[in-house]
Amino acid sequence: MGPDTFIRSRREAIAIEDRHANEMRVYDDMADQVLAEWTDDDYAVDADALPECHQFEGPMQQLIDWSQPLEGATVLETGSGFGELSCWLALHGANVIATDISSKCLDVVAERARRNGVEDRIRCVNTPIEEAAGIDDESVDLVFGRTVAHHFDLGPAAKSMYRALKPGGRAVFAEPVLLLGDWVFRLRRSKPVTKVFPPFVHTPDERSFDHDMIADLSAPFDAVEIEYFGIFTRVSSFVRVPDTLYHRVSALDQAILDRVVGARSLSKYMVIRLDKSAQA
Ligand SMILES: C[S@@+](CC[C@H](N)C(=O)[O-])C[C@H]1O[C@@H](n2cnc3c(N)ncnc32)[C@H](O)[C@@H]1O
Repeated sequence: MGPDTFIRSRREAIAIEDRHANEMRVYDDMADQVLAEWTDDDYAVDADALPECHQFEGPMQQLIDWSQPLEGATVLETGSGFGELSCWLALHGANVIATDISSKCLDVVAERARRNGVEDRIRCVNTPIEEAAGIDDESVDLVFGRTVAHHFDLGPAAKSMYRALKPGGRAVFAEPVLLLGDWVFRLRRSKPVTKVFPPFVHTPDERSFDHDMIADLSAPFDAVEIEYFGIFTRVSSFVRVPDTLYHRVSALDQAILDRVVGARSLSKYMVIRLDKSAQA
C-alpha cells in the first residue's frame, strides 16, 4: 500500500461499500500468499500456549479471560483472518463460527481447522459483520475479535453482533486505541511523520479507537467494561524495542494505569467487554 492510501483523519467518511471492497482486496491478496507459501509449522496451533501475541501479551490474556467458559460455548469470531484464534478456541472446546469478509481468508481457516483436527468444530461464514448474513438471531454465547473491530463500520456492526448474541451473551474485543483527540491522529498520519514512521496498517480505513468509536460499538449493549494497556510501550510503534525491555516498561505502564485513572487516555490498547442482558 502506498503512503497516501490510508485515512489521514478518523473523521474522514468512507462509504461502507468502499470500506468492504478495500478490506476484501487486501486480505484476499494476503490469504493467496499464505495459501501458496505456508508450511505445516505455520498452520499448527498450540492449545497450551497463548495465541500469537508478540508484545501484546497483556491484552491477549485479558481477551481470553473474558471469553471463559469456552467448553461447549458457541463462539462467533469476527474477522477470523488466518484462523489461529478460531482453531485455538475450538481446541479449547468451543463450537466456532469463523466469519470474515475475505473468502480467501476463510479458505485458510478451513485448511488450518483440518490440519489441527478441529474441522468439525469450525463453521466458516463469508460475510461482513455489519450484515452477519447466515448467523441466526440469539444463536451465539460469545462474539470474539482480536484487532479487528477498528476495521468495522461500528454502528451496523454492533447492531448485528447484539442481534446474534443470546440473552446473557457477551462480546469481547482487543483493539488499538488513541484517546487523545483527532488532532493527534492527524499528526500521526501527517505526511512528514508517516514519511519517517509509516503507520502499521494494512487497509486504508483502519484507525485506532477513539471515544466516539467506543460509544458506537457500545451503543446497543447493556453493560460495558474496558481494561487499558500500554503507555510508554507505545514507542514500539515507532522503533523496535527488545522483548525484555518491552516487558519491563509494560509492567510499569500497568502499574500506572491501575493507579491513575487519567493515564488511560494515553493507553495503546483496550480490551472491551460488552454484555447483553439476560432479560433482553
Ligand atoms: C487485522 S486482521 C485480524 C485477523 C485476526 N482477528 C487475527 O487477530 O489474527 C482483520 C481481519 O478482519 C477482516 N475484516 C475486515 N473488515 C471486516 C468486516 N467488516 N467484516 C468481517 N470481517 C472483516 C479482514 O478480512 C481480516 O481478516
